Amino acid sequence: MGLCISLTHAVDRSNFKTCEQSSFCKKQRNVKPENSPYRALLNSLEVTEKSIRLQLINEVNKVPLLLEVYGLQGNMTRIKINELIPLKPRYEVLDVLIQDPPTVPLAIIGKDESSLELGFSNNVYKLIITSKPFRMDIMTGNELLLSINSRGLMVFEHLRQKKDSYTEKISSTFGSMWSKIKNVFISEKKEENVENEDVKEELDPGNDKTNPVEQPEDADSQNESQETEDEAGMWEETFKTHTDTKPNGPSSVGLDFSLPGFEHVYGIPEHADNLKLKTTDGGDPYRLYNLDVFQYEIFNPMALYGAVPLMLAHNIRRTLGIFWLNAAETWVDISSNTAGKTLFGKMLDYVQGANEIPQTDVRWMSESGIIDVFVLLGPSPFDVFKQYASLTGTQALPPLFAIGYHQCRWNYNDETDVQTVDAGFDEHDIPYDVIWLDIEHTDGKRYFTWDPNKFPNPKNMLQNLALKKRKMVSIVDPHIKIDSGYRIHSELQSRNLYVKTKDGNDYEGWCWPGSAGYPDFTNPEMRSWWTSLFAYDQYQGSMDNLYTWNDMNEPSVFNGPEVTMHKDSVHWGGWEHRDVHNLYAFYVQMATAEGQIQRSGGTERPFVLTRGFFAGSQRYGAVWTGDNSAEWDHLKVSLPMCLSLALTGISFCGADVGGFFKHPSPELLVRWYQAAAYQPFFRAHAHLDTPRREPWLFGEDNKQLIRAAIRQRYTLLPFWYTSFYHAYKTGEPVMRPMWVEFPGDVETFSLDDQYMLGNALLVHPVVEQNARGVQVYLPGNGQFWYDVHHHQRYTGPQNLYVPVTLSSIPVYQRGGTIVPRKERVRRSSSCTHNDPYTLYVALDAQDFAEGDLFVDDGHTFNFQKREEYLHRRFTFKNNSLIARSASAKGHFNTVAWIEQVIVLGVSKPSAVILKLSDGSESSLDFEHQAEPLVLTIRKPAVNVGAEWMLYIL
Ligand code: NOJ
Repeated sequence: MGLCISLTHAVDRSNFKTCEQSSFCKKQRNVKPENSPYRALLNSLEVTEKSIRLQLINEVNKVPLLLEVYGLQGNMTRIKINELIPLKPRYEVLDVLIQDPPTVPLAIIGKDESSLELGFSNNVYKLIITSKPFRMDIMTGNELLLSINSRGLMVFEHLRQKKDSYTEKISSTFGSMWSKIKNVFISEKKEENVENEDVKEELDPGNDKTNPVEQPEDADSQNESQETEDEAGMWEETFKTHTDTKPNGPSSVGLDFSLPGFEHVYGIPEHADNLKLKTTDGGDPYRLYNLDVFQYEIFNPMALYGAVPLMLAHNIRRTLGIFWLNAAETWVDISSNTAGKTLFGKMLDYVQGANEIPQTDVRWMSESGIIDVFVLLGPSPFDVFKQYASLTGTQALPPLFAIGYHQCRWNYNDETDVQTVDAGFDEHDIPYDVIWLDIEHTDGKRYFTWDPNKFPNPKNMLQNLALKKRKMVSIVDPHIKIDSGYRIHSELQSRNLYVKTKDGNDYEGWCWPGSAGYPDFTNPEMRSWWTSLFAYDQYQGSMDNLYTWNDMNEPSVFNGPEVTMHKDSVHWGGWEHRDVHNLYAFYVQMATAEGQIQRSGGTERPFVLTRGFFAGSQRYGAVWTGDNSAEWDHLKVSLPMCLSLALTGISFCGADVGGFFKHPSPELLVRWYQAAAYQPFFRAHAHLDTPRREPWLFGEDNKQLIRAAIRQRYTLLPFWYTSFYHAYKTGEPVMRPMWVEFPGDVETFSLDDQYMLGNALLVHPVVEQNARGVQVYLPGNGQFWYDVHHHQRYTGPQNLYVPVTLSSIPVYQRGGTIVPRKERVRRSSSCTHNDPYTLYVALDAQDFAEGDLFVDDGHTFNFQKREEYLHRRFTFKNNSLIARSASAKGHFNTVAWIEQVIVLGVSKPSAVILKLSDGSESSLDFEHQAEPLVLTIRKPAVNVGAEWMLYIL
């Protein structure tokens, strides 16, 4: 955070809560597995058009809850639990789901006094609700997939009146009103359920059954008498110097899930940790609470900038997902009956017939809101991606430039600096697409302005970049300087669009500009006003090649509790910050992306980088992993961090190349460029206090290595772009864990030092200092892999020791795939628009290969709105390569053509014949290399949109 900070220390953990210091987490964790106090009142069953509903009762305090179960299209179920009649509404997450998820009918396939059996997805799946104690089990056939509340850890803290002298008065008035309302409701329910003794008994225990309003002890006073006494932290909680006033009292929710047969769980970013989640016994749970953590530590479960409450579980037979739709502070505990057992221990169990099925138990705990959970039943990893995408949307297709290389630092100082750095790339022949301006470019940290001395002619600067088809990104943070002379502030104030304190004043916090207000991004009116600020006549000095970086949007409040906003501050609709905290950043990026779309009249695709995020943020742009350090371990952890994000829908992820804090050694910097060239978002960035780091400042040799890595990235842009198109279409990740492609190979389940790009490239970056070699795991029975640099072929499965030098980037193309590239070196991605393609055809053991290519203008929505695109499919079989359209739709005119076809793993042909759609044939030049087998076919010279065929004779 601070400008002149010492760069030697790691995170000050005492700034952030442990579970023990978070009252609801501590309280919930103290609930130990036992019989649940909850009971399902099966006779209260109501079948509606979309769901089934039942009441649950807590046998201790008698507070009735409502359980709703939905069967959703595409093998999913949704389970919602709320108070039947809460004292006031409880927050339900808005705007994250892209639609009301389409339901399928739930069939009641069995019912007796103790359980209810529901069938969905053509009764392939069964959900069994057991009444006492309440639990739910999801099965397919005779296989138990998932149990809910089987450990009895469900918690639902109902809203209540505070029992102090002042509120007692109010509560006696309000409470008796409430009792009346409730009793009216109960008598209505009784009429509805005349035969429902169960419900009557529970809602109205042991009293006059005809006139509940008259009874001396109504349900509410029952609650109070049976409620445990107020405990510390229920109505007020203090952390360090901050007191959270908790006007609504305790309101947390929690639920446990047991996954028999699963030993591997993933997801719930953002944590600087391994891909495979660890058990949390004996330590803190994984925390989901968007926070600006200064100098974060790696390999631990502390909260970071963003939160996606989606967990995936995988075994050799299936993949499942649990999506916990709650935006409040959330903790996730993971335990396992096999944790700590060595492989030998597991084998011993097996030999001795211990027959213990491995099981992972998970427990979610959130501070407020309701229980709203989606179970994604797969069964394949790709089914889970699709299911999650059907709920929260897919990755926005980035403009092509955004997947090129980005040059950033805090700060490029002035227009001359920008010009010099830009020219440096040309001088050193290094492609790049975007130069970034951090906070110092503004007039005193007033976003949407320019420092008049350092950036007097922003348009001129932007135009110069545009001449080279390059772009710029400027930072726009969501804290607004409180300064009556600053238009953005005065408008926010006069329009009443700031977040409020609990007392109704504009909330003020300390951030870069000093005292700042925080626009209430949860308010749609505020968002649409924010959107309008990006219009060219509003954001003076901006142009169409200026894009946006949203930082500090957790939100970061330097003087706030845990460096964020007070939980009792108030948002639109009267919701507390506590309820919506993890959504703030999501909304900031949403409104900013919308602003860019709007400024172009709806034609241009936006590019917005965000630090904070939530489920669904994939729809608005890219995410980076925040303030990492120039350390080898930080380079290492960038892989699992982006892989975890990718599994939860956010494909467009990257880490600051070189590390934000500290100064990397030349070796670390080179290795970082090499790794990041194969990660989705590729941007170098550095702290204000660090020495300059442009790629040419580390000596000629290192410059050449960095240049080579960046150039590799650029040659692969057609492949990256096509992979992003798939992510946009289906929700499948661009960068993906090995197990996603090899779901039956247990060896891959914990791998996070290598990964796949699409289904075709295996990347194992070198992330160790002084590395002489790396151990690469090549999976797949009889699967061929080709080293992309030398074309050497290997057969899986095998552990391959690969000797490396400082120039090595171990990447393998999977046999059976075709990868398109553009091999000319250009200044920027836009300059490659008309350049020809080379197809790399890597044959599998059956001499087969397949791949595709997506082409459009690279920047507008015309591919969506007007079907202006080409989606080509290339198939190699029976010694022929066929190029045809991959979809019935799509048209796009381009002059780009196919320059070369390189076939890996094929024997020497006698001739290569090109056949066009008009039937004409011609013989092509080729060259063949015997060791390794490489056939280079020159100049088919066909347009990339044409239908053609190559025969290899
Ligand atoms: C914090 C961000 O994480 C960092 O990337 C940025 O440079 C500084 N804020 C200053 O804006």
